[in-house]
Amino acid sequence: MSLLFSETTLGSLKLQNRLVMAPLTRCRAEGNVPNALMAGYYAQRACAGLIVTEGTSPSPNGLGYARIPGVFSQAQIEGWTGVASAIHAKGAKVFMQLMHTGRVSHPLNLPPGARMMAPSAVAAAGEMYTDEEGMKPQPVPQAMSAADIAATLQEYVQAAKNARAAGMDGVELHAANGYLLEQFIRPNSNVRTDRYGGAIENRARFPLEVAAAVAQAIGKDRVGIRLSPFGVFNDMPIYDEMEADYTYLTELLNNLGLAYLHIVDHSSQGAPEVPDSIKKTMRRLFKQSLILSGGYDAQRAERDLAAGNGDLIAVGRGFLANPDLVARWQADAPLNEVDMNTFYTPGPKGYTDYPPMQ
Ligand SMILES: Cc1cc2nc3c(=O)[nH]c(=O)nc-3n(C[C@H](O)[C@H](O)[C@H](O)COP(=O)(O)O)c2cc1C
Repeated sequence: MSLLFSETTLGSLKLQNRLVMAPLTRCRAEGNVPNALMAGYYAQRACAGLIVTEGTSPSPNGLGYARIPGVFSQAQIEGWTGVASAIHAKGAKVFMQLMHTGRVSHPLNLPPGARMMAPSAVAAAGEMYTDEEGMKPQPVPQAMSAADIAATLQEYVQAAKNARAAGMDGVELHAANGYLLEQFIRPNSNVRTDRYGGAIENRARFPLEVAAAVAQAIGKDRVGIRLSPFGVFNDMPIYDEMEADYTYLTELLNNLGLAYLHIVDHSSQGAPEVPDSIKKTMRRLFKQSLILSGGYDAQRAERDLAAGNGDLIAVGRGFLANPDLVARWQADAPLNEVDMNTFYTPGPKGYTDYPPMQ
């Protein structure tokens, strides 16, 4: 009896199975507006129980990568309406991942008038791809003022309402992988001396305020959050209090009653191990659904579900290359290989042309 392929619930939603398509940035949203190509791509993959969309910016200021979508303009809401209805027609549910890139950005990728802002004026090491000039060093961001923080919180709230208006079942707050909310959590990127910096109670404040306000706006069972304890992506080094900080965050997120907590683990791609102890702590402290991710195949997914380590299993690259991943895993059929060269390139190649199972 498979747990992975059996129905379940997420908050008040019914899911057709326990497999989640992980959020995957694909850079096909020309002009930052979702389009019919994207709707087709998601519809191909709607055999999942839940799809979490690619990172989508709540603000012009959060569009740090080329061709990523937003959800703050009318055109974007209309584009997402087409995506949500294409997914629902195939039976999956969909949460939109709200991703504000913060300091992981470049002005050339931002629309006119937008600003590159972050908790503190500390640049992320490394380079950012731009369509205009190729790879560029990531500049020093502007430190957010109190007014910027308040305005950005409101952008998250409006974006969540917009996502619901577009027909999304909910939103996932991206507080992982070095983007804005994690930039607040981590002491290397947040050196503020006001109530948003310093002790973890202060560094966690903005993500928790965003989560509370978004939950208030659209309902707590429509909101999930993604965290990457021990993640180092985008220049986020490991530090001594990591486990204690994420324990604290989990406790407070649990108090908000959000629908789910989604844990990132990129160790199968060579990132540092995420200690089992923090995953167990998060499982113990967070009473709603827990989504595990990172390097899963069907056997490991079934094992972790059976052991009660999580409630849902998210898969990234497997879904990217295999639109019919559920059928393939059920049939124990071979998988298409992922083509990394077309992860972020415009157009249908490496996007909607992965062949279905023979
Ligand atoms: C091309 C690509 C784009 C990604 N974009 C996002 C993203 O927008 N938001 C996010 O939280 N994670 C993103 N990730 C991470 C995945 O959600 C997932 O955590 C990762 O692929 C590990 O799962 P896997 O081993 O099943 O692929 C991305 C990964 C890939 C390969």
